[in-house]
Amino acid sequence: MKILMASSELTPLARTGGLGDVLAALPGELQKRGHEVSVAIPYYRSVRENTALKKKNTRVTVTVQVGAKRVEAEIFECKAANGAQVFLIRRDEYFDRSGLYGADGRDYDDNVERFIFFSKAVLELARRVTPPPDVIHAHDWQTGLLPAFAREQALPFKTVLTIHNMAYQGSFWGLDFNLTNLPPSWFAPRAVEFFGRLNFLKSGIVFADAITTVSERYAREIQTQEYGCGLETVVRENAGRLTGILNGTDYSLWNPATDKLLPKKFSATSLAGKKVCRQAMLEKLGLEKNPRGPVFAMVTRLAEQKGIDLVLPLIDRLLADDVRLVVLGEGETNYEFELMIAEKKHAGRFAFRRGWDESLSHLIEAGSDITLIPSHYEPCGLTAQYSLKYGTIPIARACGGLYQIIQDYDPASGGTGFVFYDYTAEALWDSIGRAKKLFQNSQAWESMMTRAMACEFSWARAAEDYEKIYEWILRGTRKAAVGRPAS
Ligand code: ADP
Ligand code: GLC
Repeated sequence: MKILMASSELTPLARTGGLGDVLAALPGELQKRGHEVSVAIPYYRSVRENTALKKKNTRVTVTVQVGAKRVEAEIFECKAANGAQVFLIRRDEYFDRSGLYGADGRDYDDNVERFIFFSKAVLELARRVTPPPDVIHAHDWQTGLLPAFAREQALPFKTVLTIHNMAYQGSFWGLDFNLTNLPPSWFAPRAVEFFGRLNFLKSGIVFADAITTVSERYAREIQTQEYGCGLETVVRENAGRLTGILNGTDYSLWNPATDKLLPKKFSATSLAGKKVCRQAMLEKLGLEKNPRGPVFAMVTRLAEQKGIDLVLPLIDRLLADDVRLVVLGEGETNYEFELMIAEKKHAGRFAFRRGWDESLSHLIEAGSDITLIPSHYEPCGLTAQYSLKYGTIPIARACGGLYQIIQDYDPASGGTGFVFYDYTAEALWDSIGRAKKLFQNSQAWESMMTRAMACEFSWARAAEDYEKIYEWILRGTRKAAVGRPAS
């Protein structure tokens, strides 16, 4: 099969979280299964400034209609690390900016126009390549309108939409519908309108031939009021086309035995290197060495989703003991501000690093004992998979992918982490208590690390499931039994 993926992120070229990681890994796995896969992303400033990247101007231009404007895109080409072909859609007026979606904590005002343009340009590109793709696979709200455009133009491609996060919907002012150039009758509840607004993600759910999301559990959750972010009814109505497929991990990037970003490598059978990483991390962050208790860490977008508001009220209590806390992240300014204040108060025990730092994120995964993932909701939660591989035990809220990735500790049957259910600081505190207790028993803790490090989250398995979905929509047969039950 020939598949073209459309996404706003692709690691390492453009990344704000797990979405880019998925786009970097899944195409390679599908290629191993004999498919031809390419990825289209915007030609961002980060792409332009990446001088190590060999970008070729294909000299192909595509022109699309965005509202009243005719807008031209230049198509560049490069190769992803796994050999997949990457199309870079260049329009500097839209994408040569400091951020992908916004700057200084604010979304760009013209995101609606930027991503309508991008989706249309990808479709135009798909019409030009020979042979044309069989399937166009769109990811998240930024490409949510693509299936609607394909349907309206009666293009001969099947479309798949993967929802990586239900909370970000691309919901814009109703008048922005004019920028879509869809027939006026499409601004209706059965099409792209949602409560008077233009909703990209909803459009994708309605018009894609198949819908997927990044864990089986989240596929069920988004049909409920608690996790559906207002779209639960739309998801339920279209649930016959919805499948949950748990993401995998790219172990060529996330493996402490081979990770070039670590001062010392380690594995389950040779854990000494983890202690070296721990010391190196504490030193780098200016924290007091040799705590009696564990080093807790979070590497995360500082967004409401991630449960920062559960951690903040516990910081004083947590650091009253001889433990350390490390947070690397950026996002909502109120969280950044509170973390900065807490860092001042607990100098030597707590380090907050604001910003995006790839290499520090690997050192933190390796050098910490426990990672805190108290998410309000979590579609997959790649961080949890990475932590397990580095023997860093997660304390996480049982939701979405986290529910599937982590086995709660039980003295009789083992486990790989500590899970809590209620979204409250007290429930998180209980789990922290359970973890601290087990940490005192170094033998039991080491067994837990060994179990965690043995977990494998395979992209091969996920790619097989995606392949079944592509086959299903191409044959027009009934949905095959894909996806695995959530445990
Ligand atoms: P999400 O995609 O919702 O942000 P995931 O857990 O799937 O959540 O993926 C997050 C990824 O982004 C992880 O690999 C994490 O290490 C990385 N990450 C988050 N914040 C930062 C940061 N400030 N610097 C470096 N990496 C980060
Ligand atoms: C989203 C989700 C995260 C998931 C990632 C990759 O950003 O918040 O849980 O792992 O996408 O699918």
